[in-house]
Amino acid sequence: MTTSNASLKRWVEDVARLTQPDSIHWCNGSDAENSALIEAMLKSGDLIKLNQDTHPNCYLHRSHPSDVARVEHLTYVCTRNKEDAGPNNHWMDPIEAHRKVDNLFAGAMKGRTMYVIPYCMGPIDSPFARCGVEISDSPYVVVNMRMMTRMGDAALKRIEREDKYVKGLHSIGDLNPDRRFIMHFPEELTIKSVGSGYGGNALLGKKCHALRIASFQAREEGWLAEHMLLMGLQSPEGKTHYVAAAFPSACGKTNLAMLVPPNSMPGWKIWTLGDDISWLHVDDEGQLRAINPESGYFGVVPGTNRKTNCNAYDMIQRDTIFTNVAVTEDNQPWWEGLETGKPALDWQGKPYTGNGPAAHPNSRFTVSAKQNPIYSTLADAPEGVPISAILFGGRRREVAPLVYEARNWAHGVLVGAGMASETTAAAVGQMGVVRRDSMAMKPFAGYNFADYFGHWLKLGSGKNASKLPKIFHVNWFRQDRNGKFMWPGFGENLRVLKWIADRCDGRAEAIETPIGLVPRKQDLDVSGLNMDASTLETLLSIDPAAWRQEIDAIGKYLDEYGSRVPSQLREELKGVAKRLEAS
Ligand code: GDP
Ligand code: PGA
Ligand code: MN
Ligand code: MN
Repeated sequence: MTTSNASLKRWVEDVARLTQPDSIHWCNGSDAENSALIEAMLKSGDLIKLNQDTHPNCYLHRSHPSDVARVEHLTYVCTRNKEDAGPNNHWMDPIEAHRKVDNLFAGAMKGRTMYVIPYCMGPIDSPFARCGVEISDSPYVVVNMRMMTRMGDAALKRIEREDKYVKGLHSIGDLNPDRRFIMHFPEELTIKSVGSGYGGNALLGKKCHALRIASFQAREEGWLAEHMLLMGLQSPEGKTHYVAAAFPSACGKTNLAMLVPPNSMPGWKIWTLGDDISWLHVDDEGQLRAINPESGYFGVVPGTNRKTNCNAYDMIQRDTIFTNVAVTEDNQPWWEGLETGKPALDWQGKPYTGNGPAAHPNSRFTVSAKQNPIYSTLADAPEGVPISAILFGGRRREVAPLVYEARNWAHGVLVGAGMASETTAAAVGQMGVVRRDSMAMKPFAGYNFADYFGHWLKLGSGKNASKLPKIFHVNWFRQDRNGKFMWPGFGENLRVLKWIADRCDGRAEAIETPIGLVPRKQDLDVSGLNMDASTLETLLSIDPAAWRQEIDAIGKYLDEYGSRVPSQLREELKGVAKRLEAS
């Protein structure tokens, strides 16, 4: 197979000349192709068959032990001008970057098959969807991309027609972290990733294309590419609000997007559109609408069980690829928080000794969104869904209350820009350290954050201003003195979503605080929750001293971006500081 598109054909030939694969395989996305790849990986040991009686069509992939998460220190945005990448990104001159990685790609595919993977991010007939082609020497990448994107013939047809697509070149190389680079060239719509097989570094449609390259394009074209789940929230009266929520990696997006309502809240229904990425556009009527560019979930496994999230649990009992989980004696997948069974082998395949976690804390499942029992029928709608509310949130053991509402769009942009969260196992590095992670996009914005804040502010000005969604901040992760989570989280988060939906409809109360609007105790439905009044009070309280420090820290953080930071954002910050002084 080949293509009618001359430029694509030439690029594939150029890459083959550089990387010298034994053969080239154009992926069509068919079932037969997928089965053949799985068979080949079972033979090579890339995949291990799990217990097919309990988990039909489920397989385990064990990655290299040094290749288990995203590597932010090896991820670069290579714009011609360094300032365009901004202090939020590592930068390398594009000429130097190409030279550096091309050296590593030279001959890298010798003895391997080179897969050409055409894919579409978003519904194939959506004007908001964008296509790409990933070239990779990893069959694991192919089978994952097939679930995570609309991959194969239909995408190739659109690419041939449009003649505009993102070029992504990937090789697992020798998996040595010293020779690992994830390079982005947004001005050339190009990605080059070498030396890692881990999802976020290797499935180029996801973080590299749909966030880093797309955010850059979105700024030029007037839309937003965000690290946001996308969900429908249907009230007992049958009204559905669509909500997009940005939380950093491993801070609860997948779980919120698939939320199971608690028994004490009958009549509520949740519909999942996406669990990680949203592309948002203002339509002709000034309404913000969103699509999910993905078609599958690459989700955190640990913590998933029948009680925390039976939708997610049920979904991964079949047709799932597990990466870096443990296995039981009878070869079922096992992870911390599963609450049944016992691990026999840890994530590296060694007999489990009881020391430390058996599954890697960043072990993942890959599954098609079609297996989600609450997958929204509108997930394929080319025009997307109208957004009522945007949520920002993070993991904060203190300071940030359970929920608050921004005063208006510009204040909401400050709330997003000032976000902070404790680091998690989703990226290599120390865990549990609070860092600023504006809009949960610190690892993903493909350009200077100062310009990004300006782009957000601009979207809310002029004729759009009246129809924009409300902006909220949530924190499910407040801890008590003993380090215990004070809020039950998971399904119970619906209580907070209910208040948010009611605020959108103008039928819930809140009190003004210096940082925004907070529900009073009686405004939050906690019936059947068994929560004592003092815990709830703490969750909804604002500590002015702690917040003065927080505002100082946000000011210093913005200073790192210098004079490029929009003055409107600084004005908003001054406003909060002033209200805190007066309180
Ligand atoms: P994502 O990476 O942002 O999609 O986050 P996930 O939804 O996969 O969750 C990451 C981790 O946080 C998992 O171990 C979850 O079990 C846990 N988690 C998710 N939601 C909550 C919550 O509301 N409360 C608590 N305490 N943990 C949560
Ligand atoms: P997550 O996605 O946000 O579900 O953790 C992967 C990542 O961000 O690395
Ligand atoms: Mn993510
Ligand atoms: Mn997730």
